[in-house]
Amino acid sequence: MDRYAVIGNPVAHSKSPIIHAEFARRTGQAMTYGRLLAPLDGFAATVAGFAAEGGMGLNVTVPFKVEAFALARECTERARLAKAVNTLKRVGDHWHADNTDGAGLVHDMLENLGVVLTGRRVAVLGAGGAAHGILKPILDARPEVVVVTNRTPGKAETLVKDFVPYGTAVAIPPPELGDRQFDVVINATSFGMRAGDPGPMPFPATIFAPGSFAYDLVYAQTDVPTPFVHFARAHGAVRAADGLGMLIEQAAESFLDWRGVRPDTTSMFALLRGHPRTD
Ligand code: ATR
Repeated sequence: MDRYAVIGNPVAHSKSPIIHAEFARRTGQAMTYGRLLAPLDGFAATVAGFAAEGGMGLNVTVPFKVEAFALARECTERARLAKAVNTLKRVGDHWHADNTDGAGLVHDMLENLGVVLTGRRVAVLGAGGAAHGILKPILDARPEVVVVTNRTPGKAETLVKDFVPYGTAVAIPPPELGDRQFDVVINATSFGMRAGDPGPMPFPATIFAPGSFAYDLVYAQTDVPTPFVHFARAHGAVRAADGLGMLIEQAAESFLDWRGVRPDTTSMFALLRGHPRTD
């Protein structure tokens, strides 16, 4: 049976095995999908061991996405721009890498939630690995502008430089946002993921245009909204989603990379959260 896994540290709480088992069932693919805990200093060795045992593909999660990019011999354009990867596919004696995070996010917004990006003002909060991973697919949807705003402004400036050929992305430090408003606000910071959060949201509460949509790349573990979703709803966003939909859709894109078939993701959200989607 063809073997796949999610590799990370920690990895015990990953939902990917549940998602891919359901995808395999829906598409009739003969495969297994497990969890691989790699020591923090042992990513490459763990991946090599998996390959030696016949492993055919990996999803890569925190904190190994950049290391996985370095390990791969070939990658897609979107992975090259992201400089980090969440998908490895065994090709002959080496790994081919992809980053399906941005495609998953955009698919969730456009197809599942009916959000319009074309011609809209989009804000991306954060300039780390997550922001790198989503910028190209967002720009491909032809927004009017993508403003990247980050606590450390220099990182946002460096980030947007890589994307000049693909659309209008500009870096503006949070204190200089003034009264700028956005139709779509995407949280790509890790704010809200750690136990010490939430403190006060480190971005102006005025960024949500009337009728705006907010998306948090962080996904909620329960029905309690993430700190960013709470913040967005409290300050004018009419709709706000957490990252569970993106998690499902990036998995579907990885599955497509590996197996050549994109699984139907209908009702996957309800399967994972225990009730249908309300956002
Ligand atoms: P990831 O791969 O999840 O993007 P990362 O590369 O460490 O992780 O980036 C984390 C992002 O969250 C960065 O944009 C970081 O801002 P800095 O570049 O200024 O560090 C942002 N971030 C994390 N905690 C934050 C907080 N409390 N307030 C504002 N931004 C925060």
